[in-house]
Parts: sequence; C-alpha cells; structure tokens
Amino acid sequence: MSHPDHEIDSNLSHNPHFEQILSKALNGPSRRTILRGGLGLAGLAMLPGCATITAAEPSAPANALGFASLDKSLLDDVVLPPGYRYTVLHATGDSLDAGLAAYSNTGAETDDWSRRIGDHHDAIEIFFIDPQGRYSQTDTGRALLVVNHESSADAHFMHPKGQTSNGVTGKKFTQFGDWDLGVRPELEVIKEINHHGVSVVEVVRGPEGWTMKTDSPLNRRITAQTPARIAGPRAHIQDIRAQMVTRWETAGSMARGTLNNCGHGKTPWGTYLTCEENWAFYFQMSAGGAALPPKEMAARRRYGLASAAPAANQTRAISQGWHTVSATDDRFARWNLAALGANAERDFRNEANTFGYNVEIDPLQPASTPAKRVSMGRLAHESATCSLPKAGQPLAFYMGCDSRNEYIYKFVTAAVWDPKDTGGGIVVGDKYLNEGKLYVARFDADGRGQWIELTIQDPRIANYSAFKFENQGEVYLYTRHAADAVGATKMDRPEWAAVNPKNGEVYVTLTNNTAANRTPGRVDAANPRAYTDVDGKKGSGNPNGHIIRFREDGDVASATAFRWDIFLFGAEEDAGDANLSGLTARNSFSSPDGLWFSPTTGICWLQTDDGAMTDETHCMMLAALPGQVGDGSKVRVNNRMVVNGVEQSGTQETFVGATLGEARLRRFLIGPKGCEITGVTEAPGGRALFVNIQHPGEESKSLTDLQSQWPGNKGYGRPGRPRSATIVITRNDGGVIGA
Ligand code: FEO
Ligand code: CA
Ligand code: CA
Ligand code: CA
Repeated sequence: MSHPDHEIDSNLSHNPHFEQILSKALNGPSRRTILRGGLGLAGLAMLPGCATITAAEPSAPANALGFASLDKSLLDDVVLPPGYRYTVLHATGDSLDAGLAAYSNTGAETDDWSRRIGDHHDAIEIFFIDPQGRYSQTDTGRALLVVNHESSADAHFMHPKGQTSNGVTGKKFTQFGDWDLGVRPELEVIKEINHHGVSVVEVVRGPEGWTMKTDSPLNRRITAQTPARIAGPRAHIQDIRAQMVTRWETAGSMARGTLNNCGHGKTPWGTYLTCEENWAFYFQMSAGGAALPPKEMAARRRYGLASAAPAANQTRAISQGWHTVSATDDRFARWNLAALGANAERDFRNEANTFGYNVEIDPLQPASTPAKRVSMGRLAHESATCSLPKAGQPLAFYMGCDSRNEYIYKFVTAAVWDPKDTGGGIVVGDKYLNEGKLYVARFDADGRGQWIELTIQDPRIANYSAFKFENQGEVYLYTRHAADAVGATKMDRPEWAAVNPKNGEVYVTLTNNTAANRTPGRVDAANPRAYTDVDGKKGSGNPNGHIIRFREDGDVASATAFRWDIFLFGAEEDAGDANLSGLTARNSFSSPDGLWFSPTTGICWLQTDDGAMTDETHCMMLAALPGQVGDGSKVRVNNRMVVNGVEQSGTQETFVGATLGEARLRRFLIGPKGCEITGVTEAPGGRALFVNIQHPGEESKSLTDLQSQWPGNKGYGRPGRPRSATIVITRNDGGVIGA
C-alpha cells in the first residue's frame, strides 16, 4: 500500500538506536576519525568481536537470468522484456455472479459490491485442486487464486463523482481518508466496506492460458463484514475475551470481517493467511462518550487509533467516515470507538481490538469460517511467511509490522510439522497456529541477532512501567508494547518476508523511513542509512529502503539467535554514497515492498511501492539471484543530510551482501502510472507468473484529470478510470519465467 505518509510513527519507546551501542563497542573518538574518511563504501578490516560475518567470494548463482533488464519506463502500461506478454485475469469491480452486470467503470453500481472483485489487489497465492476437489501441491490445471484487497485510498473511482462527505463530492481527491467531518452516504460506504478483504476465485488453464471461472461455486469474497473466529492459546485467550466484547457479539469470541489486507502467508497444510495491516485509520470517535481508562488510551495511542473526538473547530480527520452513516445500524456504528453505551456490550469501544491479526482462510472450503490467530500477535501485520517445513520440527512464521520504527517478529509453533497434515485445511490450523511462542527481533551491531520471546515471564514485560500487562493474553493483544519493553530494534518499515527455498534464509523488505526517525545521529547497523533523496523528490531519511536477511542458528526455525546482513540497498544509480549495492540505471530501484522466491527457479522477485524515483520510472518488479548471508563484506556507510538547513553527517558500520551487478539483478516489469507492484506467485513449473498491479492512477487529480487509464487503455473492460488488477505473465515460447 502506498498509504502516502499515513503510516503512524507511534513508537515512542526508548529502545536504543544501535548507533549508541556501536559507538561504545568501537571506542568513540577513534571511530569519529573513521567517519570523516572519504568513500561511502569502504571495506573495513574485521574489528575484534565482529568476526561473525566474514567477507567471502559471492556464491555462484543457481541460475542465470534469461532476459534483458528493462530501461526505466513512464508509459501507462505494464512493460515486460522482449519475448514476454501479459493478460489481465481480473480487475477491481469484475462480477463474480452471473446475475450482476459487468462493471461500468463509472461508479454506477448500486449493488453492495459483495459479489465483485475487491479493490487494491495486494498479496496473491495459488491453491491447486485435484480431481476429487482436494488441495494439491502439483499443477492440475485448476486452482483457486486468492488475492488480498488492501485499501480504499482512492475509493473515488467506485462512485459516480468520487467519495462524498459532508455533502461535498470528490473534494478530498488523492488524500487518503481525509474525511470532511459530516455524514457520508450509505451506498458509498457499504460499497467501500465490501471492496476490502479477500477474493477467492477459481482459475483454469485452457488454450488461451489462465482465465477466471466466473460461475464457480468456489468463488468467494471475504469482506470487512465476514464473521471470523477469534482463536488463540487455550490457557490465555479467555483472559482477553472481555476486551473483544462488542454490541454485536457479547462473548468476545467472534469478530466481523478483515481490513487492509496487505501481505500474506501460505501454510504447509494448504490454507491462506491474510495480514491486517494499517487498520487503525478506519476507526473514529464521536463526541459524547464516557472517558476511557488510561491504559486503553495508551493502547490506542500506540496503535495509532483515534483516542478523542474531533475538536470543535476541526473540519477534517483521517478516517473513512464509515461510522457517520448510522449510530444504530451496526454495520456502520461499529467503526466508532467512543464509549457511548453503559458498558462494552452496548457499544463498539472494543471493535479495534478485533483487528490487527493474521487471519486464516481455507480457500477450498467456501463455507468455512476464517480464524483470527491471536497467538501471532496484534500488529500492523504485513506478511506471515512460513519457514521451510521440516518433518518433526516446529514451523516459524516471519512477520513484519509495517509502520516506521516498528519491529520484525516470528511465531514458532508448539506442534512439530507432520507432513500428513498437508491438505488438512483450517482444522489443522488450530493445531499449529494457536499454541506457540511469539518473538521479536533485535539486530546487534556485530552482525548477530536475537529473538526475544514475548512472555509475561520476562520481568521487563511483567514490570514494564509504560504499560501494565495483566496476563499473557495481553501480551498478544498489545504486542507492540511488549516488544517495546524488551528492547527490540526499530526498523525502517518492515514489509514482506520471503524464505529462500535453497537454504532457508529469511529476507525482509524495509521499505523506507523519514528524517523524523533516521538522521546520521540516529542510525544503527541494521538500519544504517540517513541521507537525502538524490534529486529531492522524497526528502531525507532512508528514502529508498533496503532488504535485510538472516539465517537462523543451526538452520532451525526455533532458533533464538541468527546472523544477518543487508542483501540490497535501494538507491538511484546516481545516489553516490547511498548506492551501497552498486545499482545501475538498469537495476536501480526504490522502496522494496513485495518479496517472494520462486520455488522453481530460485529467483527472488522483488517489487516496489515507491514515491522517491517515480519521476524517472514507475514502480517495478526485479529478479535477483541472491547468494547467502555473509557473502559480502563489512562496510562503512557515509551519511549526509540537511535537516532544517543544518547539514549533519556521520558514518555507520554495517554488513552488506555481495554486489549482484546487472548479471544477477535485473528489472523485469514496470507498471503503469501511479501504481505499486505487489504480490506474485506462479503456476508450478514457473511458466505462468501471477502479479498484482495496485492502484494505478493513485495520483489522479480528479475524475476528469486521470493520471492513468490502465487497464482500460489496453483493451481490458470499459475504458476510462484506472483499476487494480491481477495479470498473468507468460513467455511467448512457453518457457520458464525469468530463467
Ligand atoms: Fe500495505 Fe505495508 O504495504
Ligand atoms: Ca506492502
Ligand atoms: Ca534521479
Ligand atoms: Ca528521487
């Protein structure tokens, strides 16, 4: 999601920035002398105590990349290398019901959108179906394609004249959720609620390639209204049911719907995890509610939730204004967190406690109830990527919390993996995803890292003065506070995690950060850059982002320590000291977000959600052939930026992976205007790649001044307004993609 600057810097904990730790370790004064040195990228001799990562020759790539890297593109189309083509599989608003009219692309629909493809296609996963209708790990030519629909940042396109609030239509165009205070129309809001969530659609491979089966009984929409179980560890879930109670469900055992579904995970037993990311913006508070306990207020602040009604002179607020439609109709009243009733059973003060989870969905059982997996923590979940399953060992799920200065987590199952559970569906999910341990990552300056268990047994959590934990259940419910308490490392906005099938190493994109958090004096080894965007489009901080990777000690998912380095630094090719990965005009990129390894080719597919180099090229997808943790060297980063007219500089040591060069890092796809590229999976064998194009035309100025008209401009659906879509990429010669 591009959520332009609406992610919340709500981490006010005093966890150390590792600059301080490193300064101590490296002896301040002499280090300062090193800082003044010339080159941005200087190989350092190994320092005492820093010998865990050694410089080595890059390991040989598993495959060569078999296509020519793309030049930058500003075309309003999906651009691919020669020899490749794409088709659109489905786009926002496509009908999943023969009884519904084809999408008008004018906002004319008056149905509630619950039988249409949602908006803002994000993560994607494929589930093959065998002839008996069961889950299959091999290509049967028939599958369910599951797509997350992230947000309604540009919900204007689904209404005739754009979003309406306070009687004004289209006024707040391009401003994410800046709602003019006042009532919104019911039809607009119900369409917006239902275009969130997840689409499950049947796809079949025919002579024309992969197409959607519009009339399949397996087609399903999960929306922000679909009931879901609140599931968690047997010993602790009861302790927090009271915090989930709402007027709609007074036992605190059910939640309604899922929101802002961003990254995802696929479980080895054949289900889908959809991650609830920046869900806080959907809630507001009206005036007139009772005062809330200080602890509840502290929780709301930490999660970026509304904690007060708008001030008397305020005219706008960040929200969708969904609650304004009705105070009595629960479909709308639930978005108001004010304590308006006599108790929590009479209002929706607790509604936000039912969001912020990984939600398990069983695509092959359309009647199954999704489960919110409380044990995996409550965050701005970006992805939930499973370790390589090994029989008889626990599984780990790697998770980012996508806001600036948030953390990287993992959940380790109590149950050990039994391959017989493959295909077992959501019942098996209860076995693996309710009981286990939740950890947060600390990246140390010596290239090592620690997984710190989030448990009430830890005195730092039990005695945390900033937030009083009553029980282990609250550690799951208020995960961010618990992570603050144990000194986790604040990262540059963790997005997707991916696991290298060759060696089990875990890669996590860190999309970017701003000067509010990163200055030359506020960096650490794992987030080492603070500089100014080379041509000034995006300001200062870490405007281009990076990708960190780590290898668990002993190669086991349950390890409590790991070794890390930085796989790639995003940069413009002319960014000087900031271009630490030696990127060229042919493979420069900025703001990495989506990340996935092809099990067929081993290619690491990397996708961008950028605003820093979009003056030169639209967002893109690149193919990388990585080596392994430790294949590069220790380097000294030269940081320089101007903040409030004052130049600041400094250096920071870190560990960077081997330079890939154009041979091992190539631009494969560039999207249309104003989009981000997010979500990629393949048909087994790698001869078809499914990729999502999210929010083309996001920076449109009005419905008559559109930034993009894709995909209508390329013959898909009715021309005019831009639409998010899933595309299928194939090679003209039928070969394996990218190889
Ligand atoms: Fe929804 Fe973090 O991108
Ligand atoms: Ca994302
Ligand atoms: Ca530039
Ligand atoms: Ca720039």
